[in-house]
Amino acid sequence: MQLSIIVPTYNEAPNVAELVRRIAAAVAGIEAEIVFVDDSTDATPDTVRAVAADAPLPVRLIHRDVATGGLGGAVLEGLRAAAADECLVMDGDLQHPPEDIPVLRARFAAGDVDVVVASRYLGEGSAQGLADRTRVWVSRLSTMLTRAMFPLRLRGVSDPMTGFFLVDRRRLDLAGLRPRGFKILLEILARRSLRVAEVPFRFADRYAGQSKASVRQGVHFLVQLTALRFGKMSLFALIGALGAVANLAIMWALTEVGMHYIPAAIIGAEVTIVSNFVLQERFVFQDLRADASGTASRFAKSFAFNNVEAAVRIPVIALLVNTWHISSVIAAGITLVVAFVVRFMFHSLVVYAPRRAGAPSVAREIVDEIDAQAMSPGEL
Ligand code: GDD
Ligand code: MN
Repeated sequence: MQLSIIVPTYNEAPNVAELVRRIAAAVAGIEAEIVFVDDSTDATPDTVRAVAADAPLPVRLIHRDVATGGLGGAVLEGLRAAAADECLVMDGDLQHPPEDIPVLRARFAAGDVDVVVASRYLGEGSAQGLADRTRVWVSRLSTMLTRAMFPLRLRGVSDPMTGFFLVDRRRLDLAGLRPRGFKILLEILARRSLRVAEVPFRFADRYAGQSKASVRQGVHFLVQLTALRFGKMSLFALIGALGAVANLAIMWALTEVGMHYIPAAIIGAEVTIVSNFVLQERFVFQDLRADASGTASRFAKSFAFNNVEAAVRIPVIALLVNTWHISSVIAAGITLVVAFVVRFMFHSLVVYAPRRAGAPSVAREIVDEIDAQAMSPGEL
């Protein structure tokens, strides 16, 4: 097999036959396969099977019952399942013209790049098929923002958000990719330094059906961008900072309506501890949840930690002031920074630690190791 064409689909039944027909015509003469990775709730899987039966090239269907990672997750699954290392990714709605496949391949065949990106923003390219003016501007602005955040990795890439590209699978670290939502190419380019070339293409109108882009995808995108650029710790910090502001706002509101400041402070702190937990579950540690202990247990650990932290911090400030004779503000600042780092470590290493199915405890491992050392034959 020379080429695997990966097509993520979500309710694209009316596009399948036409897509396969045009791809088949475009890749006639080379050994290629089409891999549909489908999360549909409509008749797309049946349509793919029917079309596959008399297609001139192998057409495979991977239907996922759980749409992990959405569009990006589907592409990753396709990359894993592909028969060829040369993998082309394209949408299933014919907005990416199959007739351009040979153009991408020709550029790839030069042998000097790992990825060929089909760009809407290069030379003859165009984004004319984007649904409306809002989408055009959202796309432009997010492209600018993304390129500004990754000036080195995306140097020379005018369209890091395109869903139309060709990669040499062997150059990717598939296990290291964390696809979320629509922007799988960004994930690929940001994680690793790859050699990239671009070819222009015209983003066509949808053949049939409706776009799945949404505000939700936009939020996913911003989270992905932050996570890629700054890692988990800064998302964690961002949520922590928002929580601190919310904490003060709640305290202020409660004292305004006449509550004593001590209960107001306690309520503010507890409410933000809970809301921080919810946000961190959703945006920071979502990829670790599946293998960690249950939600109730995670919440209990997180809640306990934050309360202990709040309780310990005050006496520690007093201790610092009394022993080091520094100002209380500096002492409070030091404890906040230390608490933040410890809190992050506690959450990533303890709260979201993978469940061990019957694996020995750390203490047991140490004892076993000492035992093994003690029993091993000495050398003279
Ligand atoms: N398997 C799977 N799962 N496929 C999905 C999902 C999903 O959750 N969501 C969307 N798709 C498929 C669609 O069926 C289609 O084949 C392709 O992904 C693109 O989705 P569209 O709904 O057509 O998105 P678009 O046209 O608005 O977005 C296009 O432009 C973006 C840049 O502006 C795509 O090319 C994106 O890849 C691109 O990032
Ligand atoms: Mn589309």
